[in-house]
Amino acid sequence: MKYFHLSNGEQIPALGLGTWKSSPQVVGQAVEQALDLGYRHFDCAAIYGNEAEIGATFANAFKKGLVKREDLWITSKLWSNAHHPDAVLPALQKTLQDLGLDYLDLYLIHWPVVIEPGVGFPESGDQLLPFTQASLEGTWQALEKAVDLGLCHHIGVSNFSLKKLEMLLSMARIRPAVNQVELHPYLQQSDLLAFAESQNILLTSYSPLGSGDRPAAFQKEAEPKLLADPVIAAIATEQGCSAAQVLLAWAIQRGTVTIPKSVNPERLLQNLKAADITLTDAQMANIAALDCHYRYVSGEFWTISGSPYTLESLWDEI
Ligand code: A2P
Repeated sequence: MKYFHLSNGEQIPALGLGTWKSSPQVVGQAVEQALDLGYRHFDCAAIYGNEAEIGATFANAFKKGLVKREDLWITSKLWSNAHHPDAVLPALQKTLQDLGLDYLDLYLIHWPVVIEPGVGFPESGDQLLPFTQASLEGTWQALEKAVDLGLCHHIGVSNFSLKKLEMLLSMARIRPAVNQVELHPYLQQSDLLAFAESQNILLTSYSPLGSGDRPAAFQKEAEPKLLADPVIAAIATEQGCSAAQVLLAWAIQRGTVTIPKSVNPERLLQNLKAADITLTDAQMANIAALDCHYRYVSGEFWTISGSPYTLESLWDEI
């Protein structure tokens, strides 16, 4: 397993198991298989609705002595309905309870968006829009307090643009360790990556395989299929590996942590082994040319009619 260093010198496994879209019925088995195969990094979130099942698998693995808590890197995320400073610690405690843990390795603000307590996603057509306000500073201070209390060892953000990251850095007592963003050859995020590197912040790439199993509401017609890209396929043939492995090797070789999701034993193993593949400079250059700024997770669900958010304000792009 490859590791990356965080700004405080600690290590994070370069490849982890993504659990978004893994149903509660199957996620436990997938996590168990992943632990058996050697995965030591698990990416979770309260909104995925499967933390209790993941926690049951961890508890079993600890009991059986398969793995020790300190050998794992476990990330979770604060949902947008709990940004109010008074709501942060209860949300974290609930996640810790569900995962059966005393602490997280990393706790992220899931989105730079604030909605009312109890709301999952805003729904179009609702009379009362669920958007509300909480200052980023207040939310971040509550996360800093969680670090002080030992409830999480690192804090960070997700879906933050370069501009929002700068804003956060200007107010942070404890700096963000990670920004987790969509990142793959069609959305290479080179400016954000360069900025993050200059600030000793790691980027984690989500949807590294193009998240073909996203709910229908998240999908667009005729979207580009990353796993079927001919350039990726040609490199896979050259390397004698799969297209997915090329995508994951590329992410790691670029210095980003990657969290492919799978609930299939063969693919779990294949993905883990991608960390051992080294692409040539020519192969990296061919992939660099694929950037087309395509987001599979556009964030459109935050921009329903009447929302204070637009895609431009979300990503700080015109
Ligand atoms: P499955 O869970 O059945 O393996 P992402 O990580 O970008 O969200 O992508 C997850 C999707 O990619 C899921 O549909 C997952 O299916 C699939 N997937 C995971 N690993 C591989 C692989 N090695 N080859 C092809 N598809 C994969």
